[in-house]
Amino acid sequence: MISFGKQEKSFLISGKHYSYCMYVNAAGLLQHLYYGKKLAPADAAYLVAAQGNNVMPEAGDPNYEMATDRMPAELGSFGRGDFRTATVIATREDGASMSRFRYRSHQIVKGALPLAGMPCARKADETLILTLKDDFSDAEIDLRYSVSEGSDVLVRSLAVRNAGKGKLSLRRAFSFCTELPDVCGTYSALRLAGEWGQECTPCVTPLGEGILRVGSLRGYSSHEMNPFLGILTEGCGERTGECYGFALLYSGSYALEAERANGGTVRVQGGIEDTLFCWTLGAGETFETPQAALCFSAEGLGGMSRAYHDFFREAIIPPKNVYAHRPVVINNWEATYFDFDNEKLFAIIDEAAKLGIDTFVLDDGWFGSRNNDRAGLGDWVVNEKKLAGGLKAVINRCKQRGLKFGLWFEPEMVNEDSDLYRAHPDWAICKAGVEPCRSRNQLVLDFSRKEVVDHIFESVSKVLRENEISYVKWDKNRCITENFTASLPAERQGEFLHRYTLGFYDLAKRLTEAFPHVFFEGCAGGGGRFDGGALYYFPQIWTSDDTDALERTKIQWGTSVVYPVSSMSCHVSICPNHQTGRTTPLQTRGAVASLGATGYELDLTKLSAEEKAEIAAQVARYRKMDGLVLQGDLYRLADPFRGNYFCEMLVSKDKRKAYIVGERFRGVPNEHDRVLRLFGLDEEKLYHIRELSLTASGKALMGAGVFYPRLSDCGSWVWHIEEVKR
Ligand code: GLA
Repeated sequence: MISFGKQEKSFLISGKHYSYCMYVNAAGLLQHLYYGKKLAPADAAYLVAAQGNNVMPEAGDPNYEMATDRMPAELGSFGRGDFRTATVIATREDGASMSRFRYRSHQIVKGALPLAGMPCARKADETLILTLKDDFSDAEIDLRYSVSEGSDVLVRSLAVRNAGKGKLSLRRAFSFCTELPDVCGTYSALRLAGEWGQECTPCVTPLGEGILRVGSLRGYSSHEMNPFLGILTEGCGERTGECYGFALLYSGSYALEAERANGGTVRVQGGIEDTLFCWTLGAGETFETPQAALCFSAEGLGGMSRAYHDFFREAIIPPKNVYAHRPVVINNWEATYFDFDNEKLFAIIDEAAKLGIDTFVLDDGWFGSRNNDRAGLGDWVVNEKKLAGGLKAVINRCKQRGLKFGLWFEPEMVNEDSDLYRAHPDWAICKAGVEPCRSRNQLVLDFSRKEVVDHIFESVSKVLRENEISYVKWDKNRCITENFTASLPAERQGEFLHRYTLGFYDLAKRLTEAFPHVFFEGCAGGGGRFDGGALYYFPQIWTSDDTDALERTKIQWGTSVVYPVSSMSCHVSICPNHQTGRTTPLQTRGAVASLGATGYELDLTKLSAEEKAEIAAQVARYRKMDGLVLQGDLYRLADPFRGNYFCEMLVSKDKRKAYIVGERFRGVPNEHDRVLRLFGLDEEKLYHIRELSLTASGKALMGAGVFYPRLSDCGSWVWHIEEVKR
């Protein structure tokens, strides 16, 4: 797993199918050697001999420093001849920033490494800690690599220690750096870009010379660019080829960079966004970066996704929730928006109970003076004028009908028209004399301040303590614009955004620990904070406010590039769809929403008897197959961005069961038959597709395939596949 070659000072890290190798070269620099298919520990000596020593001149050579520009490094140092971007920039009190970090020592420890106040992998078999020391300052860096034998994800982070007496200003502290070799071909970059209502659109472009940088300056990971960067080798597709994934386990502003230099090598690194970042490290203090999850796949993008899904399920998502049946919810947002009273809610609850739905989630509008989006945020006290008898009345109705109850909060926000703002106007992020930007008529609370987080913890806790609440939807509907906190001196303003994110994590930790029976769902106007950091606290996240059954296939496809289907909340809503105006069959809406943590978000009282029967059938079917959503492997079959179809398949780990959902976007005349090749089955097993009454071997289903069904606009198919004995 982690082997140290004493002779040549090499480190070979191996997971399930990959190896990662580096060594301490003659000058004491940590030189990267290899990241790819799994090798044997003995191969490290070959890598050092063939690809290590010959890159750099002899250690005593006076031109040695300038050669570092070509050296594949595990940490980019600033200045002194490496002209690519640095991983860490530490400026001393005299203003000097040049650095050269050299190997000092290492240790291999059992298990994962906890991070203080931040999400981190809960499990790993071993962790390698490599300690480097700067030639010119008292800065020390620990590079950490956590590895699990059964996983293709390598978890990295670093810690910078100020071992001296003066101050250090960290102007950049990325989480990792690695280098991909010039393989005489073109690498491509994969981004998950988008916007509100269109999250996670995969975009692949060739990686040219210079720096490709993705990131967010919004104070959170963002709808616009998910904190992930993929690097694909030539010919890599969904099912075959080699690719790398770099995902940050972080919810704040971030940057990920791929720098192609020297004709073809690529330095990949990333972490906390560094435009304004500046962290003061006093004598003896340490700064820990968030973690990054690196993944190598030789089985195309599909293989990378499956490795990430296993990693998030095994090491990130709260273990008590990850494989447990998810609540099938009815959420009232699109049914009522802000306009509800007991009577309306009771009618929805009564219908939901008849259809087998198990949790009613009361969305925005239940508190303070929240009758529209201009007032009330921050006042987490029930509005009894709207809800006679308070939450208790609604909860009682749920209990009488056998439903559990969930509640919406937006803990990080405040409206100026609220009691909280009137009492503490300075708690909102603002700069005296600068008119704050408003977004959805609200401001962001300054979570870099402990007293603000404490207050919100108390007020949310009070509601959760005093009422029988089993589900919380934690929303966040705007980004940070003023980037300033009155609580820090001028020279420490660069710490603000990261401190805000730590405040969010602190509240998430405290609330999830104080109310362990509550299921927490994340949300940020849909998937604006769908990242590996948020998944540490929220087992599922509202994937998008766009619930249109056509658009959703794209959003869910793109989100699944990194995140497991069980982490995606997917709801059936009414037609014409509120976001796109499109009308799609209820069967199709249900089918697409069944590829995730399913639920409903519409006025059940307005449905026909047939529609209600269809929903009851969907819920019952979902309950029979949700094990595949929770534990199965995802195989993406037909790409909705490329053609007229969407199709995905979930296969049980033992390959005895599978579930397929497909959608055809447009009906076309005079059509010829097209073949859909299945994937992920066992070639030798015999399978039966229930809905097609077809029995065939895995080999036939994957080799010859089946025909796509002929359907009209937005028609869908759902197939259940099971192994049968020969
Ligand atoms: C966001 C969420 C929605 C809903 C509204 C309520 O937009 O994504 O699901 O909760 O807020 O204001």
